[in-house]
Amino acid sequence: MSSTTAPRDGLRRVKSAKIKQLAPRVFSETPLTGHGPRNTLEIAVPSAEHLHLQSQVHQVLNQSAELIQAKGHSEFFRNLGDTLSTLKSGVDQETWNTVVVPATREHPLAALMQECPLTKHSFTRPRGYPGDAGLLDLIYRHDSAQAQVEGSTEAGRTVFGFTAEVSACEAVRQRRKCLAQKIDQVARERPGAEMLAVACGHLREAELSRELKLGHVGRFVATDQDPASLDVVEIYAGSVSSAIETRKLSVRDFITAKHGLNGFDLVYAAGLYDYLDDRLAARLTRKLFSLLKPGGRLLVANFLNGIWELPYMEAYMDWHLLYRSEAQIRAFAGEISEVDIASTSYFEDDAACVGYLELVRA
Ligand SMILES: C[S@@+](CC[C@H](N)C(=O)[O-])C[C@H]1O[C@@H](n2cnc3c(N)ncnc32)[C@H](O)[C@@H]1O
Repeated sequence: MSSTTAPRDGLRRVKSAKIKQLAPRVFSETPLTGHGPRNTLEIAVPSAEHLHLQSQVHQVLNQSAELIQAKGHSEFFRNLGDTLSTLKSGVDQETWNTVVVPATREHPLAALMQECPLTKHSFTRPRGYPGDAGLLDLIYRHDSAQAQVEGSTEAGRTVFGFTAEVSACEAVRQRRKCLAQKIDQVARERPGAEMLAVACGHLREAELSRELKLGHVGRFVATDQDPASLDVVEIYAGSVSSAIETRKLSVRDFITAKHGLNGFDLVYAAGLYDYLDDRLAARLTRKLFSLLKPGGRLLVANFLNGIWELPYMEAYMDWHLLYRSEAQIRAFAGEISEVDIASTSYFEDDAACVGYLELVRA
């Protein structure tokens, strides 16, 4: 939904006149129950310095909220993102986690943000872990997420009109296309190609792949740790390609090599490395690379440093990723012997939100 068609009633609820009335209600009756560092402040005795910072956070959020009526939703959302960025850059990580983030969640704007289906899904983690495939479906604006969007309040849909349109979400949609293009490229280069998707989620890229639908992929093994996601992927074995098969496999299974898989022309992982520390990322890369045939390709993606949306994601979505530089993404290949690599390439999406590392096996 665009801002021009967006209804205003829900957003008016946070107009400044009501902020003082709403604040105690939000704080005492509807505590947000997500994960991460939010509880730290609840058990700590706040210092005068912390209370001052908390009050400053509430003040700047009040100013953002006032923009809803004064300048419209678009201006409000941009200002909120900038305000959160300014707050984040002005404090250290510990203060951000223990003072600023809890303060944003105690402010009445948080209740409005939680009406957004994307923000709420991320914050409440319905499958018990962050970044599930249902969240990606909301970002993809996939048909299967339509009911969730339509079931939201008008205010929530208005906020979703902004949260789903930020560059980071556009980059995730581009990533899906990029994966489909890679599947098609490898299928054309290597007829009957065998492919492995790691942490495949709902494998939505399968819907965009021409070669999969044409039956030009010999074998496609879709793996994820979440059986609920694999149930969704199973449907594609009937509707997209009978080459698709699912296996419930976690990163740990790949590290310990307990899977019996081998001989792939393409192995890829998107939306996974952002959760793995450097050591595990390098170890997994080596293990996945070893599953390739000579000339086979490994493609992995990771969010880049400097994302404007990061403070919103941490504060309101409780979504914490490991953001990296090009050098850090290239370092994923650090455990692979150079003689085994025929070529290495690195590229980014248009908005420089996601970095991709592609390795070809010698
Ligand atoms: C953000 S989603 C990405 C899904 C899909 N690759 C995409 O790009 O749409 C992350 C996926 O990683 C899976 N995942 C998370 N931790 C994992 C682990 N340790 N082993 C295997 N899969 C994992 C989740 O179950 C989820 O489906």
